[in-house]
Amino acid sequence: MIILIGGEKGGTGKTTFVTNLATLRKKAGFDVLIVDTDKQESANFWSAIRESNEKLERIPCIQKYGNGIVKEVKDLANRYQDIIIDAGGRDSIELRSALAISDKIFIPIQASQFDVWTLTQMNQLLTQVKAFNPEIEAYVVINRASPNPSVTEAENASEIIEDFENLEFSEVIVKDRIAYRRAASQGLSVIELEPIDKKATDEMQNLYEKVFSK
Ligand SMILES: Nc1ncnc2c1ncn2[C@@H]1O[C@H](COP(=O)(O)OP(=O)(O)O)[C@@H](O)[C@H]1O
Ligand SMILES: [Mg+2]
Repeated sequence: MIILIGGEKGGTGKTTFVTNLATLRKKAGFDVLIVDTDKQESANFWSAIRESNEKLERIPCIQKYGNGIVKEVKDLANRYQDIIIDAGGRDSIELRSALAISDKIFIPIQASQFDVWTLTQMNQLLTQVKAFNPEIEAYVVINRASPNPSVTEAENASEIIEDFENLEFSEVIVKDRIAYRRAASQGLSVIELEPIDKKATDEMQNLYEKVFSK
C-alpha cells in the first residue's frame, strides 16, 4: 500500500505519524520504506539516528524531490510491501505527485488550530487529484488535542469535516503528549520508548489500524 501523510500546513504532526506508523508496520512483519519528500528532512534524520543505534530495527528512508516522485515511487512499490510518504507542509510538486499515486492520504490537523482554510485547500486539491486517481481515500486526523478528557474537539471536527465532499474524519484523535517528542528525538516510535506511555501507544495503534485496514 502507498500511504501519504500530508497537508498544506507545517508542524501538524506529519513526520510524527510517518515514523510511528513505519515502526508499527515493520514490527508487524512488513517490508516498509519511508519516502521523505520534505526538504526539512525530519524523517530522514529520524531514520539516521535510528540507524546509529544497533539495538534498533532499521527502518529505511529515502529522500525524493520534484517531478520524478511518481515514477520512482511506483517503481519502489514493486520492491516494498508498503511505502509511507512524508509530504511537506505546503502545496508543492511533491504533495501533488504523492497524491497522484497514493491509496490513502491522512491529513493531521492540530486541534488548537483546527481551521477550515486548510481543509478547503485540501478538498479542492483532492477534486483535481481524483480526475486521475479516483480511488484515493482522504482522512483527517486530529493531532495534539488537549489531554483533558473532552469530547467537544471530536464532535466539532466531525461536524466541520462533513461539509467537505472529499474528506472524511478518521475518528482518530491523538492528544498532546510529551512521549511523542521524546521518542522522535531518539529515533524511536512511542511503542519503543521507556517508560512506556500506554495512551500514546494506544493512539498510534488506532491510527495504524485505520491506515492499514482493508
Ligand atoms: N501529539 C503530539 N504531542 C506532542 N508533541 C507532538 C505531537 N505531534 C507532534 N508533536 C511535536 O510537534 C512538532 C511538529 O511535529 P512534526 O511531526 O515534526 O510535524 P510536521 O512533520 O507536520 O512538520 C515536533 O516537535 C513533534 O515532536
Ligand atoms: Mg515533518
